[in-house]
Amino acid sequence: MITKLKVEYDSLNPPLKWAGGKRWLVPILREIWKHYSHYRLVEPFVGGMAVALGLQPHKALLNDLNAHLINFYCWLQKGLCIDIQLENSSCYYYLCRQQFNEFILTGKAQSREAANLFYFMNRTGYNGLCRFNSKDQFNVPFGRYKTINYVKNFSHYTPILEKWYFSSVDFVKLQLQPTDLIYADPPYDVQFTKYSANDFKWEDQIRLAEWLACHPGPVIASNQATERIVQLYESLGFSITLLDAPRRISCTGDRKPAKEVLALKGIPLKSIPLKSIL
Ligand SMILES: C[S@@+](CC[C@H](N)C(=O)[O-])C[C@H]1O[C@@H](n2cnc3c(N)ncnc32)[C@H](O)[C@@H]1O
Repeated sequence: MITKLKVEYDSLNPPLKWAGGKRWLVPILREIWKHYSHYRLVEPFVGGMAVALGLQPHKALLNDLNAHLINFYCWLQKGLCIDIQLENSSCYYYLCRQQFNEFILTGKAQSREAANLFYFMNRTGYNGLCRFNSKDQFNVPFGRYKTINYVKNFSHYTPILEKWYFSSVDFVKLQLQPTDLIYADPPYDVQFTKYSANDFKWEDQIRLAEWLACHPGPVIASNQATERIVQLYESLGFSITLLDAPRRISCTGDRKPAKEVLALKGIPLKSIPLKSIL
């Protein structure tokens, strides 16, 4: 029975599409995690939950500033079954979007119905984006996918999520313990782009690196390997490893692999499997 459950857990996919998913990094993180599996995993920027689902810690504190995302995970923890119609049509999508925005306006954004709509819009909207206008209204257009494989029953996530704690605050407000291993995957630093929709500014990257440096326990941070990110983490005493991230298409259509940095503190470098470093 235990073996069977293990197999099922192993195949748990992130339930949402989320920008910056780190599934590709899980094999490397798993090699480190196996030395710390009695620790609590803290993810200040949990996003699509690829890392937590990949490592499957017994104890976890999973946080993201996006309250709608965390609301979805809290319902997932309770055994979510989607009970709204799931239909890949533009007309129906915009009706759902309107209903979701109505929930935001009337203080019902934490409801199960809002979590249902959030899932539907994540699968059906453009590129799985999660974007809001200045009035805090969800404004992602219809995605125009030919086919979409919707999942209705998420009850198999409950046993693994049951003991995890979810929160939605700015990372600095998290209450940490020395026996927490932090994996921090903030929005990427974009050094040479004039225009950036990124709300996570350079000041926030500094604030994060300094906050991580103060943690008495082990820390792993990942980010885009810009010169200033590498310098920042080096100056705070982190060990730096550079990796080739999977190819992403840049705005020029260029398919160069992006360099990713792993900054480690309180973790012996030998625990990184060198053969995994590309
Ligand atoms: C790169 S994504 C994380 C991706 C995640 N590791 C995965 O595998 O899907 C970054 C996340 O940081 C969240 N975020 C942005 N600013 C934040 C802040 N100040 N505190 C906590 N979370 C924040 C965003 O909502 C986003 O989900």
